[in-house]
Amino acid sequence: AEDGYDLWLRYPPLDARQAPVLRAHAAELVAPASTPTQRALRDELLRGLGGLLGGAPALADAPRRDGALVVGTPASSPVVAGLGLDLADLGEEGYLIRSVRIGGHRATVVAANDDIGALYGAFHFLRLAQTGAPLDALDLREAPRLALRVLNHWDNLDRYVERGYAGQSIWDWHRLPDWRDPRYTDYARANASIGINGTVLNNVNANAQVLTPMYLEKVAALADVMRPYGIRVYLSARFSAPIEIGGLATADPLDPAVQRWWKDKADEIYRTIPDFGGFLVKANSEGQPGPQDYGRSHADGANLLADALAPHGGVVMWRAFVYSEEEPDDRHKQAYNEFVPHDGAFRDNVMVQVKNGAIDFQPREPFHPLFGAMPRTPLMMEFQITKEYLGFSTHLAYLGALYEEVLDADTHVQGAGSTVARVLDGSLHGHALTGMAGVANIGSDRNWSGSHFDQANWYAYGRLAWDPGARARDIAADWVRMTFSTAPAFVAPVVDMMMASHQAVVDYMTPLGLHHLMGRGHHYGPAPWVEGGPRADWTSVYYHRATAEGIGFDRTATGSDAVAQYAPAVAEVFGDVTRVPEDFLLWFHHVPWDYRTQSGRPLWDELVHRYTRGVDAVRGMRATWDGLASYVDAARHAQVATFLGIQEKEAQWWRDASIAYFQTFSGRPLPEGYAAPA
Ligand code: GCU
Repeated sequence: AEDGYDLWLRYPPLDARQAPVLRAHAAELVAPASTPTQRALRDELLRGLGGLLGGAPALADAPRRDGALVVGTPASSPVVAGLGLDLADLGEEGYLIRSVRIGGHRATVVAANDDIGALYGAFHFLRLAQTGAPLDALDLREAPRLALRVLNHWDNLDRYVERGYAGQSIWDWHRLPDWRDPRYTDYARANASIGINGTVLNNVNANAQVLTPMYLEKVAALADVMRPYGIRVYLSARFSAPIEIGGLATADPLDPAVQRWWKDKADEIYRTIPDFGGFLVKANSEGQPGPQDYGRSHADGANLLADALAPHGGVVMWRAFVYSEEEPDDRHKQAYNEFVPHDGAFRDNVMVQVKNGAIDFQPREPFHPLFGAMPRTPLMMEFQITKEYLGFSTHLAYLGALYEEVLDADTHVQGAGSTVARVLDGSLHGHALTGMAGVANIGSDRNWSGSHFDQANWYAYGRLAWDPGARARDIAADWVRMTFSTAPAFVAPVVDMMMASHQAVVDYMTPLGLHHLMGRGHHYGPAPWVEGGPRADWTSVYYHRATAEGIGFDRTATGSDAVAQYAPAVAEVFGDVTRVPEDFLLWFHHVPWDYRTQSGRPLWDELVHRYTRGVDAVRGMRATWDGLASYVDAARHAQVATFLGIQEKEAQWWRDASIAYFQTFSGRPLPEGYAAPA
């Protein structure tokens, strides 16, 4: 629909060139439907092929002519069983798609070991059809590289979404468990289509009430809707729940009554939700309760919950996003300092969930020094899909580029090639429990994400959680084709625009490694001047450290020495002002205003240049989009165009405000050819 509700699962009629190609490979459908997952799969294929072809293919028990699409597992489908396919390395969730001959007929088979793999394969086949990919001579094998591919909803029980820019929470707690909004099914379809297999329903700043019987019944209803789509539900657990809803006097992890309470609670949850995934915990961070309140460690806290969940197969995702109330020397260092000493002390069913960077979802951050630094603990990535620090839902920033940059980053902990992706997929340190979390950008808005292009960030997150080696550009191209149009004259410029959009935001907000200069609290708009208040690390001046001499945070040995938390090969580069990538220059170094940058410009001029470049890039995005109106329905085109107008205005605001402010320190004129702030 023109309101964006269908996301990338649109299935509009194919054009006269593509329709015959698909029809020749979906002339009839052989797909069993005796389990809920099989029915979901067959319904999706009927819906998808029906839409693309202008009529659903006939159902058959076995291929009767050329062009059948055969989907299933050896257990569900005699036809698949008869093919004797080698499915051994595909696991529970993998699948293959292959062009075969069955009884003398040409056919395409989508086969897996389990129903859920077949469902993923069906979505992949639909993607090929939607994007106009060739369907002849197919030979694809896919299995996820990460085991847990999870969304984190920062949704409160009153439907307020923390850092949500797309309306209210989609979880209608008041009407649950009886009213199962059909939207939940569409949510599950969308997630399954990109391989997401878990969802944490409530905010990390958790309300213990979600663990009471009244809410667990509602959670169970959601779990019922998700189950056929291979999605498990998880909950954020408030560490002090034994006090708040259990009537205990303490939540001390070493207290036997507390341990008993969590075991009983886990038993109760699994009686209600047999495939419950586990707990996500934010503890001793930003005022949340935690084990340190009792002089215990993160490991003590995580293991308390892990022991309660272990008999049922649940996991604990314990967040490493911690920083202290006291005047910090460098917030960048705290998570590493608190967690590395406990490497090896966590139970087998604990994962430590680490944000991509050490500060907080900034437009660009170097990879978090914890990646690679805890070889005996499975580390899970936490990306933010909602754009808390990247212009909420009005600014267009394709985060596939950000995710790819972080996943490709080389930790060097076992020599070159020790990428963050290989820390996550377990191959570097031999872990089987692996995962990625994405802080969801989903809300009650008709288009789910608040803007049409923010749907791409949900999409890219899922694809990269499945395969952290996938390329952001390819993913963007798939998304554009599925969401808008397959016309090459549309796809190419839009993909280019998306790929450049993240850098544009970095340029007009926080160029050259600057960070955390947004308005205090809401994090929208420029406020590099913020100082004072309750905490040093909640000011902007703490991060940019501008003076009459220069600007930047010295994190080298002469400063906070945060660089020492990286492997030597990385620390050497980040710590050397002549070798650090310029994108991180002011993240790691305090440099004089006349420091000569790689372009030859003095630092001040380079700063002005980059701010200006960011605004120019948005102007270019706007022009690109305006020229593509004929490819997109009027409603979606107009909203994107309007939002790009907002973005251009606010990019200019960012640039002008930042330059005017920093000029009070540099005391330098704008370089020639650059307009002064209005
Ligand atoms: C950021 C964000 C908070 C959130 C926190 C977290 O600080 O602004 O809203 O609660 O991250 O990740 O726990």
